[in-house]
Amino acid sequence: MPRKKLVGEEAWKNIGGMYELKDLIEHKILLPLQNRELAEKHGVIIPKTILLFGPPGTGKTIFARAIAKRLGWSLIGISSIDIRSGCYGERAKGVQQLMEDLRRKSKTVIFFDELEELVRRRTKEASDVDRQVTNEFLRQLPELRKTEDILVVCATNYVEQMDPAALRPGRFDYIMPVDLPDFDARKEVFRIRLKNMVVGDMNLEALAKETEGFTPADIVEVCNRVAQMGFEKEYFQKEEYAATTEDFIKVIRQHEPTVSEEGLAKFKEAKKEFGRAIY
Ligand SMILES: Nc1ncnc2c1ncn2[C@@H]1O[C@H](COP(=O)(O)OP(=O)(O)O)[C@@H](O)[C@H]1O
Ligand SMILES: [Mg+2]
Repeated sequence: MPRKKLVGEEAWKNIGGMYELKDLIEHKILLPLQNRELAEKHGVIIPKTILLFGPPGTGKTIFARAIAKRLGWSLIGISSIDIRSGCYGERAKGVQQLMEDLRRKSKTVIFFDELEELVRRRTKEASDVDRQVTNEFLRQLPELRKTEDILVVCATNYVEQMDPAALRPGRFDYIMPVDLPDFDARKEVFRIRLKNMVVGDMNLEALAKETEGFTPADIVEVCNRVAQMGFEKEYFQKEEYAATTEDFIKVIRQHEPTVSEEGLAKFKEAKKEFGRAIY
C-alpha cells in the first residue's frame, strides 16, 4: 500500500523541544490521517477530535497551526468567546449553524480556542444560556466527527472548568497536556528566537537554567525586551551592539513567570485526572 509522508517539516522545527508531544501527534494523529487506508487496514480508528490543555503560553496555538502545516491542510480558527458573544447568531442556534457550516469543510484543521468558554460546566448555578450552549456543542461534536478529512483541534487553559461530559471517551480521541518546557526545550526556544536577534557568544545553558518554570511565551517576552534594548543602545550610542548573556539574565530576573506555583499544582492535578494520551 502507498505510504504518504508528512509535509511542512519546518513547522516542527519552529517549535523548540516538545519531542514527546510531536512524536505522539505525528504517529497517532497525522500519519493515520495522511494514510487512511493503511491505518484502516490495521483497524486504527482515524482521529477526528483532539484536545490540548495546559497553562497559557505553553504552545497550544503554535501546535494547532503546525498540525495544519504538517498535513498540508487549511486552518480555520474559531474563538469560543466570539461564539459566546453571539458573533455566529443567537448562542445555541449560533453553535448549531456554525457546526453545520463546518461539516462542509474538507482537508481542514478546525481550531477551537478557549474551549472552556464553549463547554462550561452545567452546574445548578450555570445560566440557561450556558447550559444550552454546552448541550448544543456536545450534541454537534459527534456529528462533526462524521466528516471525512477534517481534524478538530481544541485548546483550553482551564480543562478543569469544562463540563465533564466533554471529557468522556467518544468526544475526544486524545486529550493531551502541553507541558512547560524542560531544560533542553527552553534552550531550543531561545535558540529559535535568537536567530532574529543580534547577539554575541551566548551561553544558552545558563539561560535555560535561569528560566526554570518559564513558559515559551515568557521566554519570547524576555527575548523581545532584550531585542528592544539592543536596538535602543545601538540607536542612541551610534555604534554596533550585540546583546550578551548578562543582558538576558538581567531581564530574566526581572520577569515574573506566567505560571504560579499554585497554577502549576493545578495543572499537575489536571494531568492526572484528564490526560488521556498513550505515550
Ligand atoms: N516550543 C516552542 N518553541 C518556540 N516558541 C514557542 C514554543 N511554544 C510556544 N512558543 C511561542 O510562545 C508564544 C505563545 O505560544 P502559544 O502557542 O500562543 O501558547 P498558548 O496557545 O498555549 O497560549 C508564541 O509566540 C509562540 O510562538
Ligand atoms: Mg493560544
